[in-house]
Amino acid sequence: MFDYEVVLKELSSVNNPNSIHGIFPYRGKISALDARNMIEQFPKEITLLDPFCGSGTIVAEAQRFGIRAIGVDNNPIAITISNAKVTSSKSVDNEHVEFLISQAEALPENKIEQMPPWPRKHFHPNTALQIMRLKQFYGQMNDFERASFFGAIALSARGCNHYKWSSNQIGSIVEPLRDIDFMSKFRDKTRKNLPHLLDGINAEIHHYDTRKLSEIIPSNSIDVVYTSPPYFDALDYTSYYTKFVYEILDTHERLEVKKGLIQTFSTYSEDMKKVLSEVQKILKPGGKAIFVVGDKKTKDGVINGGEFFSNLIDWQPDYVKQRGYTGSSSQIWDSINNTERKEQVIVWTNN
Ligand SMILES: C[S@@+](CC[C@H](N)C(=O)[O-])C[C@H]1O[C@@H](n2cnc3c(N)ncnc32)[C@H](O)[C@@H]1O
Repeated sequence: MFDYEVVLKELSSVNNPNSIHGIFPYRGKISALDARNMIEQFPKEITLLDPFCGSGTIVAEAQRFGIRAIGVDNNPIAITISNAKVTSSKSVDNEHVEFLISQAEALPENKIEQMPPWPRKHFHPNTALQIMRLKQFYGQMNDFERASFFGAIALSARGCNHYKWSSNQIGSIVEPLRDIDFMSKFRDKTRKNLPHLLDGINAEIHHYDTRKLSEIIPSNSIDVVYTSPPYFDALDYTSYYTKFVYEILDTHERLEVKKGLIQTFSTYSEDMKKVLSEVQKILKPGGKAIFVVGDKKTKDGVINGGEFFSNLIDWQPDYVKQRGYTGSSSQIWDSINNTERKEQVIVWTNN
């Protein structure tokens, strides 16, 4: 199907402010510009699968380009955000958002639950109260509204703390907490992102454990697997801003969710071997698997992600491309740790 190499471009910037991907600051989110650069190199007729879709960057970009895309993730918040990005524009409108806000504002104060203690200490009391008002209507929200609610929570948490948070300061408290008008943040999130929704949708999102991928994806059915797998420096995908969402909602037990995710370094090789053998099953003959990985810093030095993944299975990569983290948020960690890690793209063909 492919008789050319996919090209990994160097990027001068990773963020595309004019897109839906700012709806929520999901941890480990891939650059949408990077995803688009890759996707534009694929034929439009393919079926693409992202088995670790996270907040759905790859799936949403693929369908924007007209490719049928499937996403899988085992983190329910990620599933809601991914579903939000591929919601049909026909099924969302500003009136419903206004209806939710007016219902929430009309709720008598004695009907409003108190926010649990951990998130509460990060918000001005008025902001916390507004969040809990709207939370009461969570059951009436569609996924687009839910992801906007999550995004407004993250933005308000930053706002209450004077927008002083950077990726390694999330959760620090900056007194005096500012009073942020949460309903306006929620309204702004929906208004800003609604115009980015498409009306023809050709994407599906599954909440599942990728170590058992072939239980939900038929064998020999996928042309391209393109993903950024969980990092082997054990990033916690239920933490950071996502932790606020989990703690405020009581729909999922965060620590239970965590147990279903790959994030333990000691089992990382075994987990990824399982994943790659599942990927082999669902790829069509001649199909490609493209993994965006990175280096890991250990006490003995840096493990090269490309080499690590190449040695995991009995499947020769076609090639591994490498570039620096220039322009990405991972650069912050490099400057803190005094490392110069690299990012690699590994491409295998199912021969
Ligand atoms: C690097 S992130 C992917 C980010 C994504 N590309 C984005 O732009 O948002 C890796 C994802 O793997 C998911 N994950 C970890 N273990 C998993 C498992 N066993 N099954 C499915 N998903 C898993 C995490 O929830 C996380 O969303």
